[in-house]
Amino acid sequence: MKTNVDLQSYNSFGFHTVAKYFVEINELQELEALIHSKEFKNEQHLILSGGNNVLFQDDVFDGLVVYINTKGIEVLREEGNEVVVRTQAGEDWPEFVKFCVGKGWYGVENLAHIPGKVGAAPVQNIGAYGMELMDSFLQCEAIELATGNMRVFTKEECQFGYRSSIFKNELKWQYVITSVDFLLHKQAVLKLEYGNIKAYLSEHNIKSPTLQQLHDAICDIRDAKLPDPKTIGNAGSFFKNPIIEAALFKALQKEYPNIPHYPDAEGMVKVPAGWLIEQAGWKGWREAYVGVYEKQALVLVHYGGGKGKDIVLLAQRIQQSVEAKFGIQITPEVNFV
Ligand code: EPU
Repeated sequence: MKTNVDLQSYNSFGFHTVAKYFVEINELQELEALIHSKEFKNEQHLILSGGNNVLFQDDVFDGLVVYINTKGIEVLREEGNEVVVRTQAGEDWPEFVKFCVGKGWYGVENLAHIPGKVGAAPVQNIGAYGMELMDSFLQCEAIELATGNMRVFTKEECQFGYRSSIFKNELKWQYVITSVDFLLHKQAVLKLEYGNIKAYLSEHNIKSPTLQQLHDAICDIRDAKLPDPKTIGNAGSFFKNPIIEAALFKALQKEYPNIPHYPDAEGMVKVPAGWLIEQAGWKGWREAYVGVYEKQALVLVHYGGGKGKDIVLLAQRIQQSVEAKFGIQITPEVNFV
């Protein structure tokens, strides 16, 4: 166990929050032993995965940070068109996607290049380009922090929704996911309908893309729009896309005929928060250390030298101005610590 560890390289915003205690877990047994330890019981604790979706608000985390870094990818079952793969929580997500693509397994390719680790992926049901983690999720194993007991969660039990699961709601901070089983396929089914994938492929003269070509296209598309956390601190989309009543949407559409939107549940419409934030005048805004990314207004960025509080204040100002202009409340998808 280390003391007074600067978490700068453990959070993609790059904030210098200092953890009173810090432990890196490389083997599952270490985690089991830790949960029964005195320090774990006496200190408030935080399970940290890739740190790509957290915002540390303070300079100090007065407790124990447990960094999950367990590795391993194992094929559990391979039958006909199906492959079931078990992946340990500490595996890097984009590397896992590359691995599956290299093997010719379909099911996670549209989620290429999303920074983070496998164990965190189900927590917010990561999604991009018409695909969500839940589409290929079979089950996961998780340890209950209060007891150290291992439990299997089926897909249904995870209660997946848009950027949400039971691990972000009812069971928030109560379990640590230790491995995830994916059900992947060997026969080609590519999802190309979303947004700019088709435009990208036709620009590059690709008529029927291979799995690898689609993967690479998605990496390029993301690179063009989203800042690399290694260069500019950020946590991807900061807010969720709000889902609003059809009546409110119709009223807005009269005023803004070009408002982008996606159908959602009956009587509801999903509107891109990035568009709302841009219309409210924030795109490319910068003050001292933080700002709104110039190519995608949904991403709040930290240029260095700032504090988590700066992002908190900026997020509040954006929420207020979007609400004042459109009557829509936008909520963060990033976890505040
Ligand atoms: N838009 C603007 N201005 C902006 C940003 C977007 O007008 O500054 C408009 C775009 O023109 C487009 C629409 O909003 O019509 C949607 O934009 P985009 O395709 O970039 O997707 P998004 O809704 O902003 C979502 C996910 C991303 C994911 C992309 C691609 C959420 C909260 N975000 O963003 O996920 O990569 O779709 O599928 O659902 C993440 O969660 O960290 C993340 C990056």
